[in-house]
Amino acid sequence: PAVVQFRGAHQAGIATPAQDRLAFAAFDVTTTRRADLIDLLQRWTAAAEKMTRGEPVGSVEGIEESVPADTGEATGLAAANLTITIGFGPGLFDDRFGLAGRRPEALRELPAFKGDELVPPISGGDLCIQACADDPQVAFHAVRNLNRMGFGVTAMRWFQLGFGRTSSTTTSQQTPRNLLGFKDGTKNVNGDDARDLNEHVWVGSDTDQAWMSGGSYLVSRKIRMGIESWDRDRIGDQEAVFGRTKVEGAPLTGKREHDVPDLAAKAADGTPVIPAHAHIRLASPDSNGGVKILRRGYSFTDGVDPLTGQLDAGLFFICFQSDPATGFVPVQRNLGTDALNEYIKHMSSGVFACPPGAAAGEYWGQRLF
Ligand code: HEM
Repeated sequence: PAVVQFRGAHQAGIATPAQDRLAFAAFDVTTTRRADLIDLLQRWTAAAEKMTRGEPVGSVEGIEESVPADTGEATGLAAANLTITIGFGPGLFDDRFGLAGRRPEALRELPAFKGDELVPPISGGDLCIQACADDPQVAFHAVRNLNRMGFGVTAMRWFQLGFGRTSSTTTSQQTPRNLLGFKDGTKNVNGDDARDLNEHVWVGSDTDQAWMSGGSYLVSRKIRMGIESWDRDRIGDQEAVFGRTKVEGAPLTGKREHDVPDLAAKAADGTPVIPAHAHIRLASPDSNGGVKILRRGYSFTDGVDPLTGQLDAGLFFICFQSDPATGFVPVQRNLGTDALNEYIKHMSSGVFACPPGAAAGEYWGQRLF
């Protein structure tokens, strides 16, 4: 059966193979009682473990007078490789819960970036839940039930559905395409590459906060695409924007998708073959002092923008790294002159500390309390 192990050294949903669907929620914690927060994390952990096995969080029927514990819409559906990943936002470490001294140095609000058009109500949050599955209803069910259990302790701040993964996280997966029609995730950190994961994704034992050892930091960015303008752009220009061919996904200096891009190659007239402002040049580890991030984003659409009549669609970008200050932040700064910026707009932003996996008998984030 398609079941991903819930417990382990690391949380599932980071290095495990990317599933097809996403349901992502951020929550504000509305209580000021530390005991209530701990109690919720204990209940959430038990529920998440059950749901990842394909089981309801509790009774679906029960006695006639009682409200069922589980909302029921996943009844009869398979586990569908469900993973549920939790993250803690910077706001959790204010004075409310006595955690001020436990905030890792790496967990700070992201700086502003050139071109940001962030919308506060769909940004930030004290907690996040990333549910990924191969069945959209299974992913939705997971977030809905955790939200329901949080009544009185948490309030959902924003919620995003994603259809279609935009990255591969294992060498056995085929590279999917994003909504601009290009293969996405060709050069990504692979979930089976222990060396890259230890160097770039997992927080090491040298962290300032021992409770985060084995965890990772999640950065989310809702990136709207100007699909209508993109669709009127010439193919030659589209390929120059990324520095790759559209159908094969090969670097402009190669023939096949996995050919290594030659960033130094020059055309006869002396201009670089992979243009100076091409996305893959500016995002490449070679242009960022060796920085690598694990991308695990999803395509989204929220229908039509009533103001413009254009499709509200794009990439719900998610990446994991051992420290955003040496991962997402420098790469995103370097993308300040990305040719792609003409076609995209960053609408929301989030940063969360994802604790290590829960060991047998532990609840999510137990080492923090
Ligand atoms: C590579 C699309 C935003 C980081 C790529 C590739 C595509 C792509 C098609 C080439 C294939 C691949 O290697 O995966 C997009 C789109 C974006 C977007 C459509 C926005 C809507 C971002 C952002 C970041 C980022 C915000 C990080 C700040 C990277 C990295 C690579 C990459 C690190 C691999 C570069 C390499 O090593 O060659 N992206 N991307 N991308 N992108 Fe993006």
